[in-house]
Amino acid sequence: MMANKSLFNIVVLVSGSGSNLQSIIDNAGDIGIKIQLVISNKSGVFALKRAQKSGIETEFIDHNNFQSREDFDQELINRINKINPKLVVLAGFMRILSTDFITAFKGKIINIHPSLLPKFKGLNTHQRAIDSGEKFAGASVHFVDNKLDSGTIILQQKVAIEKTDSAKTLAAKVLKQEHILYPKAIKKVLANEI
Ligand code: GRF
Repeated sequence: MMANKSLFNIVVLVSGSGSNLQSIIDNAGDIGIKIQLVISNKSGVFALKRAQKSGIETEFIDHNNFQSREDFDQELINRINKINPKLVVLAGFMRILSTDFITAFKGKIINIHPSLLPKFKGLNTHQRAIDSGEKFAGASVHFVDNKLDSGTIILQQKVAIEKTDSAKTLAAKVLKQEHILYPKAIKKVLANEI
């Protein structure tokens, strides 16, 4: 077996299906990473099952058990600090992170968002892109800063919007591209190419 020495440790935060997590798992060898821990704020989500199936340590931390966003984030910080990862990767993690969290892992947190940022920050991106008459939708991987979906962009992928597209068909097309984009973007960050 090869030594793990040169692999970068990462932590992935999830809240849902985890198809992006799966793509990162599948490409971990090529990226040169070891996923040390997957944390979910939602119990029983498929993302946790995907991680467990691949032998990755998982943890469910319920945000409802904490008095404030800061308290929950402090628990996340404590847990992640034990690992001291090179990157904290958000993959469908549906929580806004506090300034404390962002400061604790400054420059190390990345996210994937299903739009061509800076267009369509927030939720419901595909319907909004269709309603605005956009010719292209897409996905962006970006560093996370204190403002929603607004840190430095690492990589983007465009997807043409066809006249026949609904938010659902567009979401499926974009998600497929996300699965290619996220591993590439992680590799780029780890190679210090941004
Ligand atoms: C993706 O569309 C991602 O862009 C957004 O949340 C979704 C997560 O999907 N942030 P999955 O859990 O990776 O399948």
